[in-house]
Amino acid sequence: MEENPDRFWWKHLFDSLYLVTDARSVLNEDVTRREVSFVVDLLSLEPEESILDLCGGQGRHAMELGRRGFSRLTVLDYSPHLVKFGDEECRRQGLPVEFLRADARRVCLRDETFDAVIVMGNSLCCFLVEEDYLGLLREMHRLLCPGGRFLLDLPDKKELVASFLPNSWHEADDDVLVMRARSWEEPNMLVREVMVSKERGLLRDANYVCRMFGPREIEGLLGRVGFSDIEVIRGFDAQSQDYDLGLMGNRMLVVGRK
Ligand SMILES: C[S@@+](CC[C@H](N)C(=O)[O-])C[C@H]1O[C@@H](n2cnc3c(N)ncnc32)[C@H](O)[C@@H]1O
Repeated sequence: MEENPDRFWWKHLFDSLYLVTDARSVLNEDVTRREVSFVVDLLSLEPEESILDLCGGQGRHAMELGRRGFSRLTVLDYSPHLVKFGDEECRRQGLPVEFLRADARRVCLRDETFDAVIVMGNSLCCFLVEEDYLGLLREMHRLLCPGGRFLLDLPDKKELVASFLPNSWHEADDDVLVMRARSWEEPNMLVREVMVSKERGLLRDANYVCRMFGPREIEGLLGRVGFSDIEVIRGFDAQSQDYDLGLMGNRMLVVGRK
């Protein structure tokens, strides 16, 4: 198969700069607390259950679960930077979270290891071809105990199309400006991200591609993999801001069980 040149953009873009460009969402503890409250309620999570935060980045959701008394927590992510950052932070704060650097499409863990798996912050959108997104969903199924539950947090494609803004910019901090130019190439959103520092000049000029899933499509994929009791909850809004949050603004949650 000919490789799509953008297919593996996620291997290099989740570095230290990502924690600046996306700080409004992924370093915002209020937002994370609200997201975790939704997850705990929707999956009826109990503190003794084993939970995998798959594609969990620096582990912000697992860390918040740790603060709430959950003790069997694993974060798996491909980014060496985010895994190291999260691991160091958990040690510093004394939180019981285990970090694993691995590819979510082929996880080196035994079958039926977890009671629940969560995939937060639009991570499934990193996977552009069926082999990759089905690979992640199959691993999620394999790793869950019988009856185990999952939650996917995804952009709501319909809402994104309705409120689409081709250009946006924000000041990430006193020094850094982030600009994004977006376009559609169904079923993907193409994003050019430019990051400029007043002090240091151009920090990043990169392109990435996010695969969007409609509610019917994601239900179909999850059913193919073997999940049941699938439910799509639209209108999920942990952040409600009046500025453009792009892909983090209009989301839907998908839950189900093995
Ligand atoms: C948008 S971030 C969301 C991170 C986190 N879930 C959150 O909400 O803060 C997407 C994450 O998926 C991870 N990722 C993408 N592809 C992956 C893969 N094949 N295996 C493991 N992690 C992957 C990236 O490294 C990144 O941390």
